[in-house]
Amino acid sequence: MNNLLNPTSLEIKNDSVNASMSTELSITDYQDRPAEELFERIVVAKKTLGDQVLVLGHNYQRDEIIVHADLRGDSLILSKLAAERSEFPNVVFCGVHFMAETADILSRSNQTVILPDLAAGCSMADMAAIEQVDECWDALAQVLSVEDVVTPVVYVNSAADLKAFCGEHGGVTCTSSTAKVVMDWAWARREKILFFPDEHLGRNVANKMGFPKDEMIVWDPFKVNGGNTVDEIRKARLILWKGHCSVHQMFQPAHIDFFRKQYSDIHVIVHPECHENVVNKADHVGSTEFIIQTVSKAPAGTTWVVGTELNLVNRLKAEQTDKQVFFLSPMVCRCATMYRIDAAHMCWCMENLAQGNVVNQIVVPDADKVLAKIALERMMALS
Ligand code: 13P
Ligand code: SF4
Repeated sequence: MNNLLNPTSLEIKNDSVNASMSTELSITDYQDRPAEELFERIVVAKKTLGDQVLVLGHNYQRDEIIVHADLRGDSLILSKLAAERSEFPNVVFCGVHFMAETADILSRSNQTVILPDLAAGCSMADMAAIEQVDECWDALAQVLSVEDVVTPVVYVNSAADLKAFCGEHGGVTCTSSTAKVVMDWAWARREKILFFPDEHLGRNVANKMGFPKDEMIVWDPFKVNGGNTVDEIRKARLILWKGHCSVHQMFQPAHIDFFRKQYSDIHVIVHPECHENVVNKADHVGSTEFIIQTVSKAPAGTTWVVGTELNLVNRLKAEQTDKQVFFLSPMVCRCATMYRIDAAHMCWCMENLAQGNVVNQIVVPDADKVLAKIALERMMALS
């Protein structure tokens, strides 16, 4: 087997990791190193660190990263793991910024969370800033008794201060796999939901629940009252923040039509961050883990067309050799920020850690941590 796929088969021969060194290693010394060398050095650093480090990998990470992950999964699984595996003093989180923040919020105070490249953000998370959400809340308060009638629900793809906002205002977080149970809970408590920052996830879940379209409005943070009249705000029971995922918005209904014309018996499976016009034409909708599990458990010989990030789909293709797996879009739909985590950055932070240097630590301020944890724990209790 290729060593790239089997780290445990490598002989450990690199003795460059020396726990007594303490000068911080520079990322520039890693950026032009060959893939095989970086692979071997990560294996050595990981072996040196032993039970001092847990490597978590989101399903969208590149193969060169996933191969080193102790555990991989979707946002919900990784959040739970971060909370459960308190025996590891260091967590190297191969994912994006909001995921590492969530791990820091849920982990014990003696645990250190590291994000290999701090530029690995999320364009959707950036579409809602705390100042905008505060303004929205104030505007709603002009029209409604907001604290009594609106539950804020924030998708975990968001900054820690938005999760804290929800914790403070009786709200809750959700992931793509918990959105339905969270929205049921929220509507059982208060009449209205403010759902942010992904318009599509909120709408798709509400559609599936048979929620009336005329009780949903979109809140555009760049318009007065979100672009709504006072009457529309009073009538709405679901207020969807105008935000989206730049990767999933690239899938189009015509892509599904194309495959249905070419193949008589296909199964289309997409992520709920896709537009409702795509979701409504799909056979299955769910989180990255749901997609992996559904395709993996499907009978041999079946054909799958998958609408989510390209790295995940390519890996499914490679692993599910008894099935046909197609990528839904003719374009390259890759999450550019997830892609920033590469072997060079991973090797750099692992070797630094092995030498006693923590680089790229993610630290959520204590005040946000306490409140954000309330919102996350409400979700965990429901899921
Ligand atoms: P999952 O919760 O399905 O892993 O999704 C995370 C994500 O960022 C999708 O764009
Ligand atoms: Fe954010 Fe979309 Fe990337 Fe997920 S795929 S991390 S939502 S930009």
